[in-house]
Amino acid sequence: MQKIIILDFGSQTTQLIGRRVRELGTFCEILPYDKFPHDDPDVIGVILSGSPLSVYADDAFHPDLSGVFDRYPVLGICYGAQLISYNFGGRVENSGTREYGRALLSYVSGACPLFDGISEGSQVWMSHGDSITAIPEGFNLAASTDTVRNAAFWNLERRIWGVQFHPEVVHSLQGKQLLENFVVGICGSRREWTADSFVDTTVRELREEIGGEKVILGLSGGVDSSVAAVLLGRAIGDRLTGIFVNHGLLRKNEYEDVLSDYRKLGLNVIGVDASERFLSALKGVDEPERKRKIIGSLFIEVFNAEAAKISGASFLAQGTIYPDRIESKNITGKVIKSHHNVGGLPEYMKLKLCEPLKWLFKDEVRAVGLSLGMPEHMIYRHPFPGPGLAVRIPGEVTPEKVRILQNVDDIFIRALKSEGLYDNIWQAGAILLPVRTVGVMGDERTYDYAVALRAVTSSDAMTADWAFLPEGFMRNLSNEIINKVKGVNRVCYDISSKPPSTIEWE
Ligand code: XMP
Repeated sequence: MQKIIILDFGSQTTQLIGRRVRELGTFCEILPYDKFPHDDPDVIGVILSGSPLSVYADDAFHPDLSGVFDRYPVLGICYGAQLISYNFGGRVENSGTREYGRALLSYVSGACPLFDGISEGSQVWMSHGDSITAIPEGFNLAASTDTVRNAAFWNLERRIWGVQFHPEVVHSLQGKQLLENFVVGICGSRREWTADSFVDTTVRELREEIGGEKVILGLSGGVDSSVAAVLLGRAIGDRLTGIFVNHGLLRKNEYEDVLSDYRKLGLNVIGVDASERFLSALKGVDEPERKRKIIGSLFIEVFNAEAAKISGASFLAQGTIYPDRIESKNITGKVIKSHHNVGGLPEYMKLKLCEPLKWLFKDEVRAVGLSLGMPEHMIYRHPFPGPGLAVRIPGEVTPEKVRILQNVDDIFIRALKSEGLYDNIWQAGAILLPVRTVGVMGDERTYDYAVALRAVTSSDAMTADWAFLPEGFMRNLSNEIINKVKGVNRVCYDISSKPPSTIEWE
């Protein structure tokens, strides 16, 4: 399949470039700046990303791109454009002031195919400290803004383009058009990357990779592992065994509901109810990190014991997706987020790893799930933390507290769904506060728990804002919770954003 290669020089927006290219129905791979796949016959074009570095800095990345220029069309974005300029004898200098934000195109060359359909006055987004003060000989000016003369330049013969602004961010209002001009118009993408084509190709590849062998997959009920399971189920049927562990900290009825969803989809799934083991291991423990560690290591123990019973399995499948892999280590060496996986399988099991979703972004995983005929409630389910309700019960976790929290959470989630609010919220849940407060019900004094509700909007969980919920909705919700859940006499709403507050309380 045709693909665009995005060489990553460490910009925060490299992933966004990838997403935009995929939205244009074109497969792409983001690779470290010095790992260009010279032997790959499917490459149709190359994008050089931005970078936090200066091209003239001692530690700047200057890979040898001689087999890339003049062989493929190349688009340099920000640092990528500066690198092109630097490479071909232009001049890049520190512009004194860093330039961030909105700019308007004051000149656009009518002859440049990269700017087809893009007009003067169009808003673009800048984010740079250096400027291209002279474009290389043989290159032409393609666009300027009021403050940056050399905002874009090109060499038609060599099929090289550079843009100082960021077409991949939504604030560059015609950025998508520019990327389409490059990917489709200039590189000639046939736009063959679709969820259906991904399913067909992947099912074929999985059959080849796995042959007649057996695969184990840890299921969490979340969208990634579920889609991976259905995809594998389609490829190898019963030779896939999914293992779904109930640690007793799931949502109300979630264990039964999720198992039944999987079975309706024809998957071969083993459910392991280890609730009592987890809850007794958590007895008397109130320190958040210790709670997480106990749950994490017991989970691995229970999963391994179950996996060891499946004789002859030679693959361990995981629902790892593309951002899990590229987020875990930035090219500049800075760790952004460590990726957690099932991990810790005993040596003797010697399983090979199978990650069928490793090239997909989250929205693509969802599209693949729909293409596989999975129900929408599985595809659009809110994220839920691995340690479950334990991180929503500050202090000691007891079966009684879990029961109370499950009931509150269930009322909250049902209400969000029935009022049509669920899909606009990234994640919602309840927290059982480790305090009791005085209340009055009928003529009786109560002394019960207070709960906090949390609902946030976000696009990636790295940052989040509290969701504004309608007043009438809040009023009814609070009444319903206090009236129906024995043990609760007060409801609060968490109005903290992330940062500084995390989504989970522990
Ligand atoms: P925080 O609380 O760090 O959460 O703002 C960000 C996102 O990650 C989820 N989360 C977890 N997911 N294992 C998981 O699988 C965990 O230990 C864990 N802790 C937090 C959280 O629900 C939110 O979506």
